[in-house]
Amino acid sequence: MPYYRSVGEVPRKRHTQFRQPDGTLYTEELMGQEGFSADSSLLYHRHAPTAIVAAEAYDPPAVTRVPNLPLKPRHLRTHQLDHTGADPILGRRYLLANDDVRIAYVSADRPSPLFRDATGDHCLYLESGSLRVESPFGALDAVAGDYVIIPTSTIHRLVPTGDEPARLLAIEAAGHVGPPKRYLSVRGQFLEHSPYCERDVRGPDGPLLVGGSDVEVLVRHRRGWTRYVYAHHPFDVVGWDGHLYPWAFSIHDFEPITGRIHQPPPVHQTFQGPNFVICSFVPRKVDYHPDAIPVPYNHHNVDSDEMLFYTGGNYEARRGSGIGQGSISLHPSGFTHGPQPGAAERSIGVDFFDELAVMVDTFRPLDLCDAADECEDPAYAWTWARPAAPPAG
Ligand SMILES: [Fe+2]
Repeated sequence: MPYYRSVGEVPRKRHTQFRQPDGTLYTEELMGQEGFSADSSLLYHRHAPTAIVAAEAYDPPAVTRVPNLPLKPRHLRTHQLDHTGADPILGRRYLLANDDVRIAYVSADRPSPLFRDATGDHCLYLESGSLRVESPFGALDAVAGDYVIIPTSTIHRLVPTGDEPARLLAIEAAGHVGPPKRYLSVRGQFLEHSPYCERDVRGPDGPLLVGGSDVEVLVRHRRGWTRYVYAHHPFDVVGWDGHLYPWAFSIHDFEPITGRIHQPPPVHQTFQGPNFVICSFVPRKVDYHPDAIPVPYNHHNVDSDEMLFYTGGNYEARRGSGIGQGSISLHPSGFTHGPQPGAAERSIGVDFFDELAVMVDTFRPLDLCDAADECEDPAYAWTWARPAAPPAG
């Protein structure tokens, strides 16, 4: 994250004596990426962040994966997976996955346990409801439309805070997620042509200073899951500074790039991850050439599987497909996709699209997970030949 923050109390010089009111030293934790060669933060704990009193193997949530075979475009109705009693981490229902990224959905109404994913960053997109992200860095409040990036190995707890459940799309990377490199200067500042910048980014703004002992933390690591019990609560940090921390960015702050004729999906790119990108389709003025066709042309992005989560407005190109709020479409490599029948003609002369969608394009094929099977609309693959009735409501 290219944005230095300093929160709470930190000493003037790093790695020097910094004492608590009782005279004992605060204990430092440097959390950094790529072996001291990339972004890091330096945290000051009241108690040693190394002190564990128990460790046992933990059965991870089952994630089954089957290939997209026969190869078909897919339509998943995520809201069919809603049920009460789910937490935002262990309640995730996995839909699509490859070795670079796992994509899950959950409608959560209770707090998660403390969790650390040591295998990669998480990018959460909040479709509805509200959520508090607690970590040693402090609390970060998210509302509908927010992306939240949680760096690898950040111990965190997700707490739904509103009257309605928090509906989340969770994009779990096997690596780091951040702004597209082409939008950053060599020193990490957002450039003028970036669709968002530092002012749009939010981070934790005060320490949580939670007390307590014998605290359970579930850890997903490269060889499985382990349940730790820490001697002291890991959110005992009095201050920290650096470039690495959970941060939020609202899709409503993404400034769309538009043109006289149709702009390709890279203009919508919001984040990059290992072998995948995340894009935001937001309400925008559309193509203004007098002869423009605002919906996309048929296309085959031969190196990518394309997943689109429809999270607001009306997605003009998909009218007649059965797709509605909370739908996910998967258009895999090997299949040419495009607008539904009639959409091109209908879009001519339209000057504004009221649509909100999150896209994940992966460079390796996405397998289907068990929850995809539970909520798939089997008619979708044929809707370019046999349009479906509009969704109810
Ligand atoms: Fe596409």
